[in-house]
Order: sequence, then structure tokens, then C-alpha cells
Amino acid sequence: ASTLGAAAAQTGRYFGTAIAAGKLGDSAYTTIANREFNMVTAENEMKIDATEPNQGQFNFTNADRIYDWATQNGKQVRGHTLAWHSQQPGWMQSLSGSALRQAMINHINGVMAHYEGKIPYWDVVNEAYDDSSGGRRDSNLQRTGNDWIEVAFRTARAADPAAKLCYNDYNTDNWTWAKTQGVYNMVKDFKARGVPIDCVGFQSHFNSNSPYPSNYRQTLQNFAALGVDVAITELDIQGGSATTYANVVNDCLAVPRCIGITVWGVRDSDSWLGANTSPLLFDSNGNKKAAYTSVLNAL
Ligand code: XIL
Repeated sequence: ASTLGAAAAQTGRYFGTAIAAGKLGDSAYTTIANREFNMVTAENEMKIDATEPNQGQFNFTNADRIYDWATQNGKQVRGHTLAWHSQQPGWMQSLSGSALRQAMINHINGVMAHYEGKIPYWDVVNEAYDDSSGGRRDSNLQRTGNDWIEVAFRTARAADPAAKLCYNDYNTDNWTWAKTQGVYNMVKDFKARGVPIDCVGFQSHFNSNSPYPSNYRQTLQNFAALGVDVAITELDIQGGSATTYANVVNDCLAVPRCIGITVWGVRDSDSWLGANTSPLLFDSNGNKKAAYTSVLNAL
């Protein structure tokens, strides 16, 4: 195969990227994105502040731009994300208690209704665990009660029974880290109690503080053994090591329930981390980097 998407499809997987609606007019960008990837995540346009800027008033203009571009070009879309402490609209930031809990439920229902039956995977809850303790992150959502995550998943299941429901987080790649164990224990508990969860997303933003761990494959496998699919959802590697990119691909391929890989942007100049960190597979001129060839060969 000569593209990332086609190469991933050889093993029944997908290869995706984050897409920004504001770049869909950039033909250099869309040419690469359309050629190489067969899964799309909206970089910001399906987040809470974008889709419900005023309480009860949903706006899918930019989300639909991305959805339509993706599907018209034969790609699937990962929904990202429904319940998160970050990128909340101002009205939600100022809510608490039962009003916030109900607003979260209404938001999940409103967004999932718009895309019912159209989005195969939703990141229902994003980044709910603390970076170091292994417990929950303090947030307005967490302060509504510890059951907010399972309420979000139950709401999502009822809103779109066809969608696979994912928990998504970062710094959950290293099996020995407390945060990884915290999320693992939550998923294990959800499966034991019948809380609907189908997949776990590993953002996998690798850098010197959270480097690619040698036990990454073990982490993916251990989560998969709980009975969920696993996906690499926001991959970028600061410095762009071709070897590390190949290791990530090989680890996913070694785990039957690792269903696909998404890189968080097309060219280095599109990265949220800044082009100078060289974290992606195409350079700022759109040329394939060594990491690209390494990934293509590993798939
Ligand atoms: C980032 C986007 O890339 C930026 O454009 C935005 O300013 C902030 O959010 N974890 C996530 C993603 O789940 O949604 C974040 O995306 C990166 C970290």
C-alpha cells in the first residue's frame, strides 16, 4: 500500500488525523489529508464550547464542515469530545451541582442526536483523571459527584446505541504510572458493573516528560483484555523520531483489539505543539518525513 490509510486497512485498522475546519480551504493541506488518512477527528469543532456556545443552543456549523468533508471523501469520523473539564463554554464553567450535571446530560443528548448513527466512535469523557495521584482530576464535573463519568456513558449509550463509547486520556501509556492504573481500574469496574464502555483512547502525546514507554504494548494489551477496543487517538512525538513512530505502530499491530491510530495533525505546521517540535509525519512544506516512511513500512 502507498498511503497510511490503505496500509492500515490491510489489517482491518484505520489511520486518522485531526482536521481543523479553518484549513479546509488550504489545498496543500486537504490534498495530503485526503490522500493519506481514512479517519478524521475534529481538532476543536466538536468540543463543548464549539457545539453549545449558549446553553441549549447548539451550533454544528464547523463540526459539520469537517464531518461533510470527511464523509464526502470516504472517511469515517471519531467524535471528540462530549464531557471534559477543558474547552467548556463560559456558561458551563459557571455551573455547578445538579444544574451542571443536567447540562452535561443535555449536551451529550444534543450532540449525539445530531450525529445519531453517523459517528462510529465517540470520546464520551476526556481527561477525567489526575496527572499523578491515580484518582480523579478535580473539576466542576467531578464536583457534581463521582458517578458523573458513568452517567455520561449511560446517557451516551441511550442517545446513540450504534456508537462505540470511548474514554480518552493522556499519560496513560506507561503501565507503571498511577494514572494508568486509575483509568484501568475504572474500566474494569465499569465492565464488572455493566456500565456501557466500548473503547479506551490513548492520546499518546509523547515528549521528554512523558516519553514512549517500553511497556506501551503491555498497556494496550492489558486494557484490551478487559473487553474493550483500544485506539491511539492523538499521536504526536516531539522530535519526530522515526524509530519511536515505528514502535508505536508495531505495538498497535501486536494487539488485535488495537483498532487504529490517529495522529494529531497533518503537517508539523499544523501541530498544536508548534512546528519547531517537529512532532508529525509531514514537514511544514507537506513533504513526507523519515517518520512517515517508518510508519508506512511498519503498517
Ligand atoms: C488541542 C487542540 O489541538 C488545540 O488546537 C486546542 O487549542 C487545544 O486542544 N488533548 C485533547 C485534544 O483531547 O482535544 C487537545 O487538542 C490536545 C490534548
